[in-house]
Amino acid sequence: MTSSEIRENFLAFFKGKDHTIVPSAPMVIKDDPTLMFTNAGMNQFKEYFLGNSKSKYPRIADTQKCLRVSGKHNDLEEVGKDTYHHTMFEMLGNWSFGDYFKKEAIAWAWELLTEVYKIDKDSLYVSVFEGSEEDELELDKEAYDLWKAIVPEDRIILGSKKDNFWEMGDQGPCGPCSEIHVDLRSAEEKSKVPGAGLVNQDHPEVVEIWNLVFIQYNRKADGRLESLPEKHVDTGMGFERLCMALQGVKSNYDTDVFQPILKEVENITGEHYGSDPQKDIAMRVVADHIRAVAFSIADGQLPSNNGAGYVIRRILRRAVRYGFTFLEIHEPFMYRLVKVLVAHMGAAFPELKKQAVLIENVIREEEHSFLKTL
Ligand code: SER
Repeated sequence: MTSSEIRENFLAFFKGKDHTIVPSAPMVIKDDPTLMFTNAGMNQFKEYFLGNSKSKYPRIADTQKCLRVSGKHNDLEEVGKDTYHHTMFEMLGNWSFGDYFKKEAIAWAWELLTEVYKIDKDSLYVSVFEGSEEDELELDKEAYDLWKAIVPEDRIILGSKKDNFWEMGDQGPCGPCSEIHVDLRSAEEKSKVPGAGLVNQDHPEVVEIWNLVFIQYNRKADGRLESLPEKHVDTGMGFERLCMALQGVKSNYDTDVFQPILKEVENITGEHYGSDPQKDIAMRVVADHIRAVAFSIADGQLPSNNGAGYVIRRILRRAVRYGFTFLEIHEPFMYRLVKVLVAHMGAAFPELKKQAVLIENVIREEEHSFLKTL
C-alpha cells in the first residue's frame, strides 16, 4: 500500500463511521499563547473539549501536520539519530465531541488496523492507564475490560502517567489513554524475546503507532484536574510509522514518504544512504528537516530572529550544519529538495504546491547567509 493509499484508507474508514473529514489545521499557531506550533491533532479542537464552543460536527477525522520541536513535546534531538522520530509528522486522527467514547474508539481502531490494514494481530500490543496516586486516579478498568474482550491479557500492558495519561501541555484538556504498539521484529527475534517487555523501551522495531486518548479532564494552572462537562475522544496515529508497519520496512525513512527525498539527497551529494552510519544520520536529518521548514513556510512562518521564526531558522541551520560537516556540502542544497517534496505531498497538502517558489527562494537565501558564517 502506498502512503497516499494508507492516508486515503484512514479517512475513508472513518467517513464510513459517520465522521466528517476536515483539512489539516496550519502547523503554525497564531492565536494560542501556550503553543507556537501544532503539536497534536487535537490542538485545533481544544475549545470544543473544554466546552467553550461547540463543534458543528460531533465526529471528525483528518490528517494533521504536527511539529514537535518546543515545549512539552520536543523530539528535535532524537531526529536523525533514530529511525522513527520526526520534527514534522502527520497525525491521523478521529475525534468524538461528547459523542462516542471508549467502546467505539477501541473497537474501530482494532478493526481498522487488523481488517483494513491487515496488520497481524499477534504483532500488536495495547496499553492501559494504571492510575496515579498523585492525581488520585484509578486504573482505567473500562478500557482494560474493553481490550480484554479483543486481545489476550498478556498483550495488555499497564502504563504509568508518563505514557498513559495524555496532556497537551502544562494546562488544558487531558485524560487517560490507550496506546497501540506494533512489533516489527522477525519471527526468530520474537521467539527469543517477547515483545511485551519491549513496549515503551525505545526499541526501534517495537513502536507506538496509535494513541487513543479519552479526554475527561482539564488540567488547571495550579495543577489540579477538573472534570469536563462532557467526555471526548482524541486519537492520533503516527502516519510515517504506520507506513513503516504496512510497507514491511524497519525504518520510517525506508517508506515511500522519505525515500524520494533521500534519493534526491543522494543525487545532490553523491553519497549512498546506508553505507556509513554517521552520513546516514546526516541524510535523515536533512530529509526530516526539509519537511518541517517547507511546511512552516507554506503556512506563513518564515525563518527569523525570534519566536516561531527562530525555531524554524534553527531547524534549517541544524540540517545545513549536518550537511556541511558530514556530507561535505558547502553550498545551498536544501532548497533543491523542495521540488521532490512538492511532487510527493502537494496533492494531499495543496498549500505546499501553491507556495513552492516562495519556499525554494526563502530556503536558498537562508542557506546562503548561514553558510557564510560557517
Ligand atoms: N493527542 C494525542 C497525541 O498527540 C492523540 O491524538 O498523541
